[in-house]
Amino acid sequence: MKVIGILGSARENGSTHYLMEEMMAETKSKGAETEIYNLAKMNIGCCLGCESCKKTGSCVRNDDMQILYGELKAADAIVIGTPIYMGEMTGQLKTFIDRCFALKDAEHNSHLSAGKRLAVVITQGAPMPDHYAKTPERIEYIFKGHGCVPVGTVTAVGVHNTDELLKDENVLEKAKEIGKQLI
Ligand SMILES: Cc1cc2nc3c(=O)[nH]c(=O)nc-3n(C[C@H](O)[C@H](O)[C@H](O)COP(=O)(O)O)c2cc1C
Repeated sequence: MKVIGILGSARENGSTHYLMEEMMAETKSKGAETEIYNLAKMNIGCCLGCESCKKTGSCVRNDDMQILYGELKAADAIVIGTPIYMGEMTGQLKTFIDRCFALKDAEHNSHLSAGKRLAVVITQGAPMPDHYAKTPERIEYIFKGHGCVPVGTVTAVGVHNTDELLKDENVLEKAKEIGKQLI
C-alpha cells in the first residue's frame, strides 16, 4: 500500500503539512508506505498547452512532474493539501493540477487506475468554515475525473501557524478519522 501527499504549502513545517502528516500517520500505522511531496521544492513548470500528451500519452516537459506522474500511478491513496492563498488553492498546487492534464488521453480517459482514495486538507486564516468550500470541491471534482474516490476533506480555520492549529483538537481528530478511511 502506498499513500502519497501532494503539499501545496511552501512551509515545510506549516499547518497544512502538519495535518497531512497526522492523516497519513493513520495509514502508516496500518503498514502503508507514505511520502509527502512539497511542490515548492520541486522543479515543476507550467502546462505549455501543447496538447502533445493527447497524441503521445505523456508530457513533453522533462521536469519533476515526471516523478509525480509515476507516483500518482503507483499510489493506492492520495492526499492533496493546500492553504488558502488569496481565496484559492496556492499557485504551485494549481500548476500541479494543470499538469495532471497529461494524465488524460484524447477521449478524457485517465491513465490512473480507478479506485484510488483521495483526501483533501485545507488550512485558512479566515474563521468561517464554508468560506472557501469551493476549493476542496474543485480538487475532488478534478481527481474524480481520474477515477479517484473522495473519502473526506478536513478544513482548519482561523489558523496562521501550527501553535494555533494544535489548539483545535476537533480538526486534528477529523484528520485522523479521514486518514483511517484512506486504506
Ligand atoms: C500569501 C498568503 C495569502 C493568504 N490568503 C488567505 C486568504 O485569502 N484567506 C484566508 O483565510 N487565509 C489566507 N492566508 C492564510 C493562510 O491560508 C493560513 O495561514 C494557512 O494556515 C497557512 O498554511 P501553512 O502553514 O500550511 O502554510 C494567506 C496566507 C498567505 C501567506
